[in-house]
Amino acid sequence: MDALRTELVELGRYAKLHFEREERVALEVGYNDVNRLHDSHDRLKLALRLRYAELAGTLDDAKVEGFVSFLRTWLIDHVIKEDMQLKPWIQGAERRRGRPANEPLRYMVRPL
Ligand SMILES: [Fe+2]
Repeated sequence: MDALRTELVELGRYAKLHFEREERVALEVGYNDVNRLHDSHDRLKLALRLRYAELAGTLDDAKVEGFVSFLRTWLIDHVIKEDMQLKPWIQGAERRRGRPANEPLRYMVRPL
């Protein structure tokens, strides 16, 4: 279970980098709701910290199940519903830059 805990900490680090990158992209493409996106990320970071606190001490199946359920909700509710609102803004920015329609969106694959 220590390996799982290590992975969860790494996930938290990755999430923080992902949020920062996504907010940078949102600003660059002129997204009109960056503050809401930032607030949503702040709420997720707080929820993640609270979840980590629940994982303190002995890990059992119920704690792990609760954490996995949280991640599933996070992915569905945030990434699908909120992050996808950025897509037309990114596409518009890419169109203005002259990206051919058959190329992947550079904003989505650009390294940090
Ligand atoms: Fe996001």
